[in-house]
Amino acid sequence: MEFSGTLRTKLPRVKTTIFTRMTQMAQANGALNLAQGFPGFHPHPDLAKFMVEALEKGKYQYAPMTGLPELRHAVAKVVESLYSAKYDSETEITITAGATQGLFSAICSLVREGDEVIVFEPAYDSYVPAIEACGGKARLVSLEGPDYSVPWDQVKKLMRPETRAILINSPHNPTGTLLGHQDLLQLEKMLTSTDVLLISDEVYEHMTFDGYEHQSVARYPNLASRAFVVGSFGKTYHATGWKTGFVLAPAPLMAEFRKMHQYQVFAVHSASQYAFARMLEEPKHYSELSAFYQQLRDIFLDELKGSAWKFSPSQGTYFQVLHYEADPSLTDEEMAKQLSSKFKVTPVPMSGFYQYPGPCQSLRFCFAKTPEELREAARRLVMAGEALLK
Ligand SMILES: Cc1ncc(COP(=O)(O)O)c(C=O)c1O
Repeated sequence: MEFSGTLRTKLPRVKTTIFTRMTQMAQANGALNLAQGFPGFHPHPDLAKFMVEALEKGKYQYAPMTGLPELRHAVAKVVESLYSAKYDSETEITITAGATQGLFSAICSLVREGDEVIVFEPAYDSYVPAIEACGGKARLVSLEGPDYSVPWDQVKKLMRPETRAILINSPHNPTGTLLGHQDLLQLEKMLTSTDVLLISDEVYEHMTFDGYEHQSVARYPNLASRAFVVGSFGKTYHATGWKTGFVLAPAPLMAEFRKMHQYQVFAVHSASQYAFARMLEEPKHYSELSAFYQQLRDIFLDELKGSAWKFSPSQGTYFQVLHYEADPSLTDEEMAKQLSSKFKVTPVPMSGFYQYPGPCQSLRFCFAKTPEELREAARRLVMAGEALLK
């Protein structure tokens, strides 16, 4: 179809996401796809059972705009039991079409033309376009290597009257690092006596390893009182395709959020909400997730020990970053291409998580795959390391 008008894009720098491009590359090469972040196995069978139950009960029509009451109640109960935080399920919890929509509606509800939002890089790819689509500007802060820590002094320097919000993500995609108690105390100190709001992306809240605890913003009353906390059932229940998530916020913030939510999606798929509400009744599903993913991480890393790849074990999420040292011409994009085409395993180049990437020799791998796939992927990586890096 020909288009005859003039088009002025609102998002000139946005192209097809790096995840889609790498998945296409994996398919074209017949490679193991460790690029896109989705589980390579089925959810617990109860999820399908509850979905069937939902359909038998006739959950075909619109759910309430704010989400199914039983799901909102279930979320409130879990959040209180895990983080000792009380959210009113009527006024402070909304069910969303995945965390992506939760983030987008939260950003839309508070960012106006000229507002600034502080974002840490590397970053999940939806943050900056959402801010820019609302006329805002992302003020980018690079996490500091080798452990990707937050340079709080730099953040402090960026705070000015235009600063509307800070966006944090822990457990962190793509680096697999966590914000610790001290980070949240620093943030609390910095935000006191300002009007700066907080958006906290916590979609991997139930995946932390080696005894590390997830520090939800919900645990910190002085932060929670100015925060949107965003979660995802897709991540927790191995059902990313169902695109169902939730947002927590104090009632006045949530009222603004819902003004956007009701015109962006109105309501979320009703049968999925019913099924997730039933799943939340059994704490084992989320309390055993960390051990489950830690085992998969270890299967992957055990095979890579002693190879040319350098890494610090992921502390959370289902992502592992591998670093390498080579001639600068072997960029992460080039390395990802070679791994995919010659060694049949496809990662995401870390430069894909930066707006203005510099030189980079790091790759992100998703280990939400079967043990057999992970062993095979690691075996191929060891071979690639020997061929390309030694
Ligand atoms: C950090 C982060 N936030 C948000 C999302 C989106 O979650 P959902 O699939 O529930 O929209 C993802 C998905 O990969 C993610 O990694």
